[in-house]
Amino acid sequence: MIYHIQQTTSTNDEARDARYRHGDVVWAEWQSAGRGQRGHSWLCPEGLNVTYSAILEPTFLPATEQFLFTEVAALSVVDTLGEYGIEARIKWTNDIYVGDRKCAGMLIEHDLRGANLARSIAGIGVNINQTEFDPSLPNPTSMALASGRTFDRREVLERLVDRLMARYAQLEAGERETLQRDYHERMYRLGTCHPFRLADGSIVRATVEGVRPTGELQLRHDDGTLHEYLFRQVEFLIEGRDTPAGTPAR
Ligand code: BTN
Repeated sequence: MIYHIQQTTSTNDEARDARYRHGDVVWAEWQSAGRGQRGHSWLCPEGLNVTYSAILEPTFLPATEQFLFTEVAALSVVDTLGEYGIEARIKWTNDIYVGDRKCAGMLIEHDLRGANLARSIAGIGVNINQTEFDPSLPNPTSMALASGRTFDRREVLERLVDRLMARYAQLEAGERETLQRDYHERMYRLGTCHPFRLADGSIVRATVEGVRPTGELQLRHDDGTLHEYLFRQVEFLIEGRDTPAGTPAR
């Protein structure tokens, strides 16, 4: 069931309430303390986009395989945008990009019981009808900017939830290879060479080669060597914006 509420701190906090059950979704018009990844906040003007959290209980899934849950959530947004004719890609781990611009982000939080997941919250923000953004945001876009039309937000949200439950059904059915293949095929920068910043500040040119089942990003550096990175060990750079022409890359 979709619970549409006026306001909360963060739908991920609200979703922790025990009254929400497996399959429920909390959709808030306004979050006073919306949270993003890496400790960032997620600001969203009222009435233009959707911010929601889905509550799922993948008790069958070992915590060591939690990246499959990330794949489920990311694919649900890409699938939905595709149904509206918008070709989106997944910027590892789970940002949703249209071209070089971010259209959706997600914050996934898990509670564990023993070695397995117990309750997982997929908190997702999708830019739908917003066409003007705070200039401090690096590279935002929206479904409206990507397509030149506006959308009924409830209809979009219902599709997002349908696609989430369909991808979750694949996870429940043990269709790991399908999820891994579909995520891989939709990765941003798959097979094309671009700059990346590493944890030591150095910049390399590399090609996204894929992602390991455990979630590490596989990058083929332009010297031919293959490297694996954990979240926070590598940053995607955009030519021209993040790297002045002629920036040396090793
Ligand atoms: C990011 O890209 O940094 C992640 C953004 C996640 C935003 C969503 S909006 C709904 C849910 N509630 C939150 O506080 N955050 C997530």
